[in-house]
Amino acid sequence: MSRVAVVTGGIGGLGTAMCRDLTKQGRRVVSTYRKVNEEKAHEWQEERRREGFDIAIYEADVADYESCREMIGKVEKDIGPVDILVNNAGITRDRTMKKMTLEDWDAVINVDLTGAFNMTKQVFPGMLERQWGRIVNISSINGQKGQFGQANYSAAKAGLHGFTKALAREGARKGVLVNTISPGYIATQMVMAVPEEIRNKIMEEIPVGHFGVPEDISRTVVFLTDDAAGYITGANFSINGGHHMF
Ligand code: CAA
Repeated sequence: MSRVAVVTGGIGGLGTAMCRDLTKQGRRVVSTYRKVNEEKAHEWQEERRREGFDIAIYEADVADYESCREMIGKVEKDIGPVDILVNNAGITRDRTMKKMTLEDWDAVINVDLTGAFNMTKQVFPGMLERQWGRIVNISSINGQKGQFGQANYSAAKAGLHGFTKALAREGARKGVLVNTISPGYIATQMVMAVPEEIRNKIMEEIPVGHFGVPEDISRTVVFLTDDAAGYITGANFSINGGHHMF
């Protein structure tokens, strides 16, 4: 039986590559989508089918604990227990601190950080019981180095790695391995929404001289969630073209 992998925000820029690559690896992949994206999610699923990927989609708002609980309940009933979770869903509300509102702060913390708790909480006990699990938290270069105009996002993404390290300790003796990936600037809609002038300046700071592609990240998700990756936990993988080295 294929292991079941849930990717939050799987219909987005990075998530789509993760869903494809995990399916190629032989996982039974489930992507979450938000209610507002219902139509888009079904179109996305159709497109993946045309490419030869059968990916299940389930509605959930990662910022809403009950919604996550209900969604994982349905997945377990329809497909089976979740062995692999990729906490990938994330949003930005970039503003300088002077302009940032409490709403901008809460929105980003609730999705990018609390969302990982809300999802992990549903699957972690089962992974411990079955003595096998893989969790990958998608953080960001900007959680490592901080970014002008991203106090909310940088805080949430830095928080994710603390979350990873604590869970890695809790899961280690039970075969549940938890890691962080910190992508740099990958050419997705989220990055392309940064004004061009600022984006060009950011590009100049990247030693390899270009933005990454989603597959740069999804290949590492596959590697970390492989059955053979049994000795990597609590680690943070920087995939940023040399943009931030430490
Ligand atoms: N460093 C220092 N100063 C900067 C700066 C920087 N990086 N960027 C802007 N400034 C300065 C401007 O020169 C200007 O200075 P003056 O006031 O002296 O003229 C001032 O800051 C502008 O301040 P404002 O409050 O008016 O800012 P703004 O509204 O013009 O823009 C912003 C603020 C929207 C945050 C804009 O700077 C921006 O979009 N920055 C990019 C943020 C970013 O990298 N987001 C990543 C999104 S993708 C992602 O997050 C994925 C991932 O994980 C990598």
